[in-house]
Amino acid sequence: MLPGANETQRIPYGSSVADRLPELIHGPGALVLRRWVRVDAEILGEAVMESIEHLRPWMPWAAHEPLSVVERRALIGEWERHWLAGGDVVMGIFVNGSAAGGCGLHHRIGHGGLEIGYWTRSSLLRCGIATSAARLLTEAAFARADITHVEIHHDKANAASAGIPAKLGFELIREVRDRRDAPSELGLSCEWQLTREHWDRLHPRPPPGA
Ligand SMILES: CC(C)(COP(=O)(O)OP(=O)(O)OC[C@H]1O[C@@H](n2cnc3c(N)ncnc32)[C@H](O)[C@@H]1OP(=O)(O)O)[C@@H](O)C(=O)NCCC(=O)NCCS
Repeated sequence: MLPGANETQRIPYGSSVADRLPELIHGPGALVLRRWVRVDAEILGEAVMESIEHLRPWMPWAAHEPLSVVERRALIGEWERHWLAGGDVVMGIFVNGSAAGGCGLHHRIGHGGLEIGYWTRSSLLRCGIATSAARLLTEAAFARADITHVEIHHDKANAASAGIPAKLGFELIREVRDRRDAPSELGLSCEWQLTREHWDRLHPRPPPGA
């Protein structure tokens, strides 16, 4: 069992296990997405600090690094409380059990939608980690009957991030003025979307009994 997974007694009123986003997703080969839990604070800290030079330009939260282990445990505790209540899930990307980055599914784009976020550990850039994680998260999102569309948003200057939705068949639906939250951002958000219909066309299911 996952550390922290036996906490059903702490489900807040109004949420149920069925409301929660997945906490464990097995990918191809040795790739696993797993919700961060408090005992991961040290390994998460190591992955973030190893990668801080390429995270700072794009990830607003990187401005608050380095966090102490105590602060990081508290932050993971916050993520856990939100997830237990049916909110966002913040996950590690693990390859052969080692932290290769982070990703998540977020409710911030309104009803029927989930937004995907990701970052990759610096030693594993350009190995397909973010693309694989985003593919698994897209699949997990569409496994929920209430999800009609999945989006990926990135600042226009973040060319590396643009490669992921493009590879997965997302469509660039709009560019909107946004706050400059991280040092290298232009303040122009590129919003990519994949609808359930498009996903089903890309991944047709065999007919029942086939
Ligand atoms: C963006 C980021 C997550 C990409 O991670 P990654 O695991 O290296 O990405 P992938 O290997 O899956 O790359 C997929 C495609 O994206 C594009 N891409 C990735 N890195 C790129 C780079 N440095 N320059 C140009 N294109 C790039 C390419 O098209 C690539 O496909 P290819 O390698 O076959 O040419 C990583 O650079 C990162 O962690 N950046 C900092 C955090 C961040 O910006 N997160 C996203 C915020 S919106």
